[in-house]
Amino acid sequence: MAVLDQLTSQLAINLENKYGAHNYHPLPVVLTKGDGVYVWDVEGKQYYDFLSAYSAVNQGHCHPKIVDAMVQQAQTLTLTSRAFHNDMLGKYEKFACEFFGFDKLLPMNTGAEAVETALKLCRKWAYEVKGIDENEADIIVCENNFHGRTTTIISFSNDPVARKNFGPYTKGFIKIAYDDLKALEETLANNPNVAGFLVEPIQGEAGVYVPGEGYLAKAKALCEQYNVLFIADEVQTGIARTGRLLAVDYENVKPDVLILGKAISGGVYPVSAVLADNNIMNVIKPGNHGSTFGGNPVAAAVAIAALEVVRDEDLAKNAFELGELFRSELNKYIQTSKIVSLVRGKGLLNAIVINDDEDSDTAWNICLALRDNGLLAKPTHGNIIRFAPPLVMNKEQLLDCISIITKTLRQFESK
Ligand SMILES: Cc1ncc(COP(=O)(O)O)c(C=O)c1O
Repeated sequence: MAVLDQLTSQLAINLENKYGAHNYHPLPVVLTKGDGVYVWDVEGKQYYDFLSAYSAVNQGHCHPKIVDAMVQQAQTLTLTSRAFHNDMLGKYEKFACEFFGFDKLLPMNTGAEAVETALKLCRKWAYEVKGIDENEADIIVCENNFHGRTTTIISFSNDPVARKNFGPYTKGFIKIAYDDLKALEETLANNPNVAGFLVEPIQGEAGVYVPGEGYLAKAKALCEQYNVLFIADEVQTGIARTGRLLAVDYENVKPDVLILGKAISGGVYPVSAVLADNNIMNVIKPGNHGSTFGGNPVAAAVAIAALEVVRDEDLAKNAFELGELFRSELNKYIQTSKIVSLVRGKGLLNAIVINDDEDSDTAWNICLALRDNGLLAKPTHGNIIRFAPPLVMNKEQLLDCISIITKTLRQFESK
């Protein structure tokens, strides 16, 4: 089609606006190519990617090893469904179970599906192992959570934009404050029908809220005390993003149920997974759950390669070290800044809070200026900008990015 051959940014945006549902509000930039920490727009301008597709591209754009694994598998066998076995799924399940230290894995495709899977698994365990009366199980969730977009998941969101006019909502969830052990303990003590506690080790979408030290370990201990499953949603925080393979590793916590997505595929293909030990996962029987694409050979090959890259390139260590550098340099800047009030995060999952009203457009305007200066980032909520580059970044590149960020912020100091 002629129009597609000579697509400018504006034309591409016009096409999306006209023919696509308006369910996102993207930064006006149209990307056509990616390599490592860089992406390019259709006019040829190069940018540092400081979002990494919401932490799906931890291994960098188009990592050759992951792409090769995908291409090779795609030329051999792509999809069998689970009606038949394929020779990649078992290999991948063994690899991932040993990688993360669990007995079994249930393969899905998107993060939201994996969360749904964990919720179903938790409820079934509650009825068949814990002995809660049918239809009575509750799952504790946290205020300001983000676990995806399905009807059940938005039922326990408190974001009005995500929820409004999508009811009726799914029952069976109790919401408590995040990072509040007292609230967790009281809720557990007063509700014998609690089956699980679903938590993000760092609340990414909410604005990179890092809980107090010891929160996850103590929450896990409380769950053990009350025979409740500790379900960690590491879709965003997992796979080395926060400077450890999993964010729960900082507190030596092994979740009862681990939810992974995004970077388990290096961002080249939708892959997600739920991991648990036999005493939990064995409640799932044929017909209870499934997905046509979940566990397909391409996903399996891609996920093995993506995890090998994380291990072989020591991405957790790199994320840890560069994260320390990033926050310390940003903190130096903040000491003399009126526009930024703080930086927070772990590893390379960080955010700055802009000193302005939550509904102001300053953060958005800063992101537009960052784009003009060659770096792509986006506000998570109103006045909070998340910074999450690919973990294959090197120190020199990070220092260059810090200089772009501080130079851009300075443009707003006097406004
Ligand atoms: C913690 C968390 N859980 C689940 C999801 C949903 O993942 P997906 O968009 O792949 O459905 C996200 C996405 O941002 C997430 O951050």
